[in-house]
Amino acid sequence: MARARADGKAGKMASYIINGPAKNFGGSVKISGSKNAALPIMAAAMLSGGRCVLKNLPHLSDTGAMAEIMTSLGCSVERKDSALEITADITKPRRKCGYELFSRLRASVLIMAPLLARFGRAKIPMPGGCKIGARPIDLHLKGFSAMGAKIRQGHGMIDASAPDGLSGCRIYLDFPSVGATENLMTAACLAKGTTVITNAANEPEIADLAEFLNKMGARVSGAGSDTVTIEGVSALRGCEHKIIPDRIEAGTFLVCAAGLGAGIRLEDARPPHLKSLLAKLSEMGADCEAGADFIELRPSGRPKTADIKTMPYPGFPTDLQAQATALLATCEGSGMVVETIFENRFSHIPELRRMGAGIKTEGNAAFINGVRHLSGAEVSATDLRAGAALVTAALKAGGKSVIHNIEHIERGYENFTEKLRALGADIERTD
Ligand code: UD1
Repeated sequence: MARARADGKAGKMASYIINGPAKNFGGSVKISGSKNAALPIMAAAMLSGGRCVLKNLPHLSDTGAMAEIMTSLGCSVERKDSALEITADITKPRRKCGYELFSRLRASVLIMAPLLARFGRAKIPMPGGCKIGARPIDLHLKGFSAMGAKIRQGHGMIDASAPDGLSGCRIYLDFPSVGATENLMTAACLAKGTTVITNAANEPEIADLAEFLNKMGARVSGAGSDTVTIEGVSALRGCEHKIIPDRIEAGTFLVCAAGLGAGIRLEDARPPHLKSLLAKLSEMGADCEAGADFIELRPSGRPKTADIKTMPYPGFPTDLQAQATALLATCEGSGMVVETIFENRFSHIPELRRMGAGIKTEGNAAFINGVRHLSGAEVSATDLRAGAALVTAALKAGGKSVIHNIEHIERGYENFTEKLRALGADIERTD
């Protein structure tokens, strides 16, 4: 069947076929580099003409789309195993930013920072809404405008210009937006004077981006807290950087194992980035051990349910809400999930109900009555994390599940089928 693909192109969608329950699930899995750290860091590499080597960069359709955008602008982007080399040795971006490429991923908006800060102009297609909510970029634009950029919007485009450069200023974010913090922090690196962003997002991916920027010669302090200070410099250089592990991938594997009562060991994980999930798992009766770079979940019985509310970091991540809902679906008791970050992030729930889950929703709250067993069914992934929730449920469900539209899932999970199969899942991918 021809449908719209996750990358925006028309085509036939692929599916996963999972036979559950995965009775022998367990073992060890290596966590990949973080998608959400990789994307802003790739964009920021365009701040300098020097060569940037990004190690542990996950091979995903989203990072591939960002690489294509950068190539179309004239950057040289080359993959060498798990590293990506980016050289933006250009005096002017080559092509105008086309709708087809930019509409593939929302994080394309992060290209605005280097275009505006280094080349004085960023004209990009307006990012649209998406399945999980409207996702406006007003906070990004307000910040750029406070830094002296002139912003015009029309004909589906955003045109920001600052021909004489950006100027440092004080920016208060009405909401600690991850993308706005990243875009403004990156742009401020080449601004004249000092920029202070308050009510900034605290996510670990922002601290990783700041570490990368500082290796390029930027002067960023406070990233990872709610006040970030950036002293502008006149030029930056290339550097080498290793991307942090993906806390959402790590959390997804933990949730899958917890639902199955299985043991799992995550290698190359950063336990401090997963405090909210580890606290919930322990409240549910799971036995977890965290080391410097690993997390081990020991086999246990049926977990007890819990109440979960998504919050900006260090609160419970919205990107693990769908998977956690799938976990609560088979826990003992009745639990509640409240989604406070995105207005429309429950599209996995009707699909989980097809598998026998007892879930009701009211506004941004879901009430989950845990059942002992789910049954395999034909379902559809509507977005990346909703898809991961369906995989979580299908591993636990008895019988065959077919999950359609898995291109959404492959935007954010590197070698997902291979990793799940190595952990004992019976999973096939069909085109
Ligand atoms: C990033 C992550 C995404 C995660 C989200 C929240 C990447 C590539 N994506 O998305 O996986 O789910 O953080 O943790 O890192 N908002 C506004 N105006 C703005 C910007 C945001 O109102 O200008 C609102 C959004 O509509 C949303 C909330 O702020 O309700 C959070 O969005 P934001 O933190 O910006 O998410 P993203 O950076 O898009």
